[in-house]
Amino acid sequence: MPPYLAEPVPLFGPEFAADPHTTYARLRGYGPVAPVLLAPGVPAWLVTDYQAALSLLRDQVTWSKDPRTWQAGMPADCPVLPMIGYRPNVLFTDGEEHARLRAVITDSLAMIDLGLLRSEVLRVADQLIARFGGSGRADLVTQFTGPLPAMVFNRLFGLGDEYSPHLLSALAGMLEATGPEEATAAGAAFFACVHDLIAMKSRVRGPDLASWYLDHPARLSTEQVTQQVVLTLGAALEPTANLISNAVSVLLSDRDYYSSLANGSLAARSAIDEVLRREPPMANYGTHYARHDVVFYNTYIRPDEPVLISFAAVNAGIGGGMPGSSGGGAHLAWSAGPHSCPAKQPAVLIATTAVERLSSSLGDLELAVPRNQLPWRPGPFQRALVHLPVIFGPLNQN
Ligand code: HEM
Repeated sequence: MPPYLAEPVPLFGPEFAADPHTTYARLRGYGPVAPVLLAPGVPAWLVTDYQAALSLLRDQVTWSKDPRTWQAGMPADCPVLPMIGYRPNVLFTDGEEHARLRAVITDSLAMIDLGLLRSEVLRVADQLIARFGGSGRADLVTQFTGPLPAMVFNRLFGLGDEYSPHLLSALAGMLEATGPEEATAAGAAFFACVHDLIAMKSRVRGPDLASWYLDHPARLSTEQVTQQVVLTLGAALEPTANLISNAVSVLLSDRDYYSSLANGSLAARSAIDEVLRREPPMANYGTHYARHDVVFYNTYIRPDEPVLISFAAVNAGIGGGMPGSSGGGAHLAWSAGPHSCPAKQPAVLIATTAVERLSSSLGDLELAVPRNQLPWRPGPFQRALVHLPVIFGPLNQN
């Protein structure tokens, strides 16, 4: 059946969360592009084929990142707006303006001293492990993988440790929001945090990302800097936390694998690479809109229809000879083309260092429940554990 006649497949709900790969295999059966629902009443197209994904991500003539034509037809409380609704930042901008905003981010990220970043991750990891190490059990999502990137980025943006509970609670509010009103209030609290930060850094600069954004030769306005900082934090914290927790959950599901990491014979980096391919934290994203009506891989697509890339489905097809897949080379966990993640290097460094430290401190870590019973968050975009309960021999902390 041609994809445009098929019933759209939901990318939400408990069944999808528990086993998204069964859904991806079904979607691949439609061909390179399949009809999906991002939420009830929110249809979109999903690209599940490697070559189709690359050709879309690299073609700025046909495709735009600007969602406003689509958004005009959506209700204000559409639940996916916090993830794909327009904001004046690098992610939703095309062409020269995109290049200008992106340069501020890439040039500033390039100024991070990676040696200092590694020491900072170790310091934060030790601090977090010390808080739960004596008890012999933990939920690594709430006690380790969630707070770690927030505490590290707090420092990278030039804030003291005393500020991180503030940032963390604003972020947690966004993640735990149960309805559109809570989400708006939490988003406003997060924005207010970043506003305070930029006001502070506008008065006194330091060796930090916020100051480098402000001083970049692209000369962004204070409002533009605020928007890019909000985006950078939003783009950094959750996927990095999910990369670490997905990696630890995969490692712990195989005792031999984890022991070879804990005793140093497996590098944390190779575990992270495997997770980027098997369980990419940004599972379905890279949202684009056709600039005019197009036929893309036999699918007729209009400008007000979001087209997402399934990084997870595309990766699952790599080299495995999956039916209906064009195969390909490197995984697409970081996307590709002009909007690909500009922070691969620091993100991998943070995740690798965190996993290394956790496994060397808690060599006997075990999942408290089998991996197939771990709870996953039910949305379409991120592959994110709700909890990661573990047990281990309590550390003697005298
Ligand atoms: C150090 C942490 C991170 C930072 C600062 C960061 C920052 C960003 C930024 C600013 C963008 C927008 C780029 C643009 O539009 O030109 C982006 C895109 C992206 N990032 Fe990251 N990121 C981080 C970690 C991660 C992680 C861990 C993943 C998952 C493996 C990831 C996956 C992606 C993907 C797939 C995109 C493309 C999104 C799209 O096309 O819509 N990022 N990132």
